[in-house]
Amino acid sequence: MNIEITNLRFTYPTGLEALKGINLTINSGEQVAIVGQNGAGKTTLVRHFNGLLKPTSGTIFIGEWETTKFSVAKLASRVGYVFQNPDDQLFSRDVLTEVTFGPRNLGYEKAKIEELVQRALSLTELTDKTDTNPYDLSPTWRKMIALASIIAMDTPIVIFDEPTTGQDAVNVARIANVIAELRNEGKTVITITHDIDFCAENFERVVALSNGQVLLDGPAREVLGQEKVLAQTYVDPPQLTRLGKRLGLKETVTRQEEFLRAIE
Ligand SMILES: Nc1ncnc2c1ncn2[C@@H]1O[C@H](COP(=O)(O)OP(=O)(O)OP(=O)(O)O)[C@@H](O)[C@H]1O
Ligand SMILES: [Mg+2]
Repeated sequence: MNIEITNLRFTYPTGLEALKGINLTINSGEQVAIVGQNGAGKTTLVRHFNGLLKPTSGTIFIGEWETTKFSVAKLASRVGYVFQNPDDQLFSRDVLTEVTFGPRNLGYEKAKIEELVQRALSLTELTDKTDTNPYDLSPTWRKMIALASIIAMDTPIVIFDEPTTGQDAVNVARIANVIAELRNEGKTVITITHDIDFCAENFERVVALSNGQVLLDGPAREVLGQEKVLAQTYVDPPQLTRLGKRLGLKETVTRQEEFLRAIE
């Protein structure tokens, strides 16, 4: 199921134009990272994918559905969106209720709901916390609950808005594992991130936004190699990439294995 964005512009009621003509196609099964400075328009862009925001002009198609013609509830069967701040998303008294809400709401059969919920809980390592109130857990775990409740909906497209912000290394690895699992299942994963190493290690394609426009879009290695252009949106290439450049490596390297191969 492709995402097709054509000439998307969006102006907030305050008069601020946050998106200034975005053209982007994301193909079924792609793993895309969206990067860019604070206020570049990343969250505004992805909130259009599940209909939370409607374009001021231009169009977005999710498969053959134009988002303006479908309700947010209907679009939720195709696009799962994990909020930037889990406290904006969570509302249940215990973890199990929270994670069960989405798939139940989509009207799946009981057995399927149970299977999806168990899988989401086990992927996020929440299985032993099902009875706990999300607000008795740390913000780190609340982020995992937010992830689990969206994964449990089994949508073909999953969006994560800054999943690794404020997370320790163990949790970042957990999140990378969730993304790898979704990739294996053939899902489209779109992740907004400021964590450029995480971006380099986990995503094939990178879109850099700047001031409501697409600044760069392409394979991670090509985009992350463009230090000067990225500086316009205050993104530093991964440390390995910069080190590789300083060492005079001919190819742009973004991952540890590539780096080691290149210096051999
Ligand atoms: N509800 C709103 N009302 C008015 N302006 C808004 C609203 N939400 C965001 N903006 C403005 O729109 C622009 C884009 O914001 P957006 O949240 O999409 O950026 P972002 O790239 O996600 O930034 P960050 O990395 O800080 O999350 C910013 O100038 C922001 O101040
Ligand atoms: Mg944002």
